[in-house]
Amino acid sequence: MASIYVVDDDTVIRSNLHDYLELEGHEVETFSSGEDALSRLDKDTPDVMLIDLKLPGIDGLELLEKVKVTSQLVEVIIITGHGDISTAVQAMKLGARDYIKKPFDMDEISLIVHKTQSARKIDEHLAYLHKEEQVRMGFGEIIGTSDAIKTVFRFVQQVAESPKTTVLIRGETGTGKELVARAIHNTSERANKPFIEVNCSAFQETLLEAELFGHEAGAYTDAKQRKKGLVELSHEGSFFLDEIGDMSLGLQSKVLKVIEEQVFRRVGGTKLISIDTRIISATSRNLEQLTSKDKFRQDLYYRLNVAMIELPPLRDRGGDITLLAEHFVRVYNAEFKRNIRGILPEVKQKLISFKWPGNVRELKNVIERAVLFEEGEYISFDSIRIIDNAHGAQSSDFLSEKDRLIENLTEEGISLDEVERSLIEKALDLANGNQTKAAKLLSISREKIKYRMKKFGIQS
Ligand SMILES: Nc1ncnc2c1ncn2[C@@H]1O[C@H](COP(=O)(O)OP(=O)(O)OP(=O)(O)O)[C@@H](O)[C@H]1O
Ligand SMILES: [Mg+2]
Repeated sequence: MASIYVVDDDTVIRSNLHDYLELEGHEVETFSSGEDALSRLDKDTPDVMLIDLKLPGIDGLELLEKVKVTSQLVEVIIITGHGDISTAVQAMKLGARDYIKKPFDMDEISLIVHKTQSARKIDEHLAYLHKEEQVRMGFGEIIGTSDAIKTVFRFVQQVAESPKTTVLIRGETGTGKELVARAIHNTSERANKPFIEVNCSAFQETLLEAELFGHEAGAYTDAKQRKKGLVELSHEGSFFLDEIGDMSLGLQSKVLKVIEEQVFRRVGGTKLISIDTRIISATSRNLEQLTSKDKFRQDLYYRLNVAMIELPPLRDRGGDITLLAEHFVRVYNAEFKRNIRGILPEVKQKLISFKWPGNVRELKNVIERAVLFEEGEYISFDSIRIIDNAHGAQSSDFLSEKDRLIENLTEEGISLDEVERSLIEKALDLANGNQTKAAKLLSISREKIKYRMKKFGIQS
């Protein structure tokens, strides 16, 4: 519950807000002018202030500025009249958390106050962590303090609070989609129930169906016993469908049924089984485009898209880049029993200006190698292997490898499968047969490398 000051010269609005918010359990004081409110602020600070833009003496914007000077901690919500939107935007720039348009329902007010409070809680938590020189969030090791990542934290917090809402996570490869999916599960009330994930691109359709929904005895020739599917195992927990854009149309309609009716059938079964699970899906593909090409069901797209977050690419996260790089130095120091003390400033500068097409995963890989190979105390250009060129978009050996491959494509053609196959073989070689490491070298998941090894008949 919050302490709230309402500043509005309209008696009716004032008393309505007072009564309603008090009923909701808040502590409410009302003021008919900015001056009155300010003199009260000398003695006490509320959690939230609802301020009307048009006030008789000093106006809402001026009051907002003064409030923010007195205390950064007061959350301000601006009440605007019709046609005042540009002023409302200005208010947001001056530090208001949100605004609401007149006329409004009390429900809206309640929602906005609630939102403000959870946003505030997160900010306080961040500030606390910062003070402690800790930048790890409670959200399952998601590192970052940029505005871009804070928006992600807020989203995680909000959807964690509604444990039935279907969530869609979008973003370029390596931006942390899986990490965010786990964070949502771990901060929700489903946290101590299973988090089950399946990578839709790692299986063929029929295999995936059996994986997802299980089968009855006798469903296939070698299905001697009933087997529970992954959906069923996620009962009361969360079900993470990674790379949902790669799922076949047939399976899409079955997944749609799970979302819409919370039921499914095992393969070879007739009985409908009910399930209570939260579906979290992720994709780096453009679902709208797939939908327009009839490769993705529109109805499923709408269902998945109820709560959507787009993870920002690493290059848009400013200072997070060095924060993450230093974090990974600590991680790999521990893993490789090394004692690298940090990163040279000029290298940091380079890291910040680099475009990071593979995002956090790529940065992690670059630092992993650097920690392994650095011979000095600090990570230098020698170990980081960022090759400077006119486009400024080169890192690690693999990108130059990529360029070399592209060079090799002439009019005579080249077999993509063969290239892929040799790359996988080489990566496995370099990693001494360790599939996880080989997958890392190729910036793909372990499932993906397994799938491809199977496809090309590469022995593990
Ligand atoms: N903000 C972050 N803080 C710390 N580690 C991160 C962060 N974001 C991503 N990572 C790490 O980067 C790697 C890639 O993240 P993740 O697998 O979640 O990405 P993704 O978006 O699912 O990638 P893909 O689309 O390729 O599946 C993981 O090792 C993850 O732990
Ligand atoms: Mg992923």
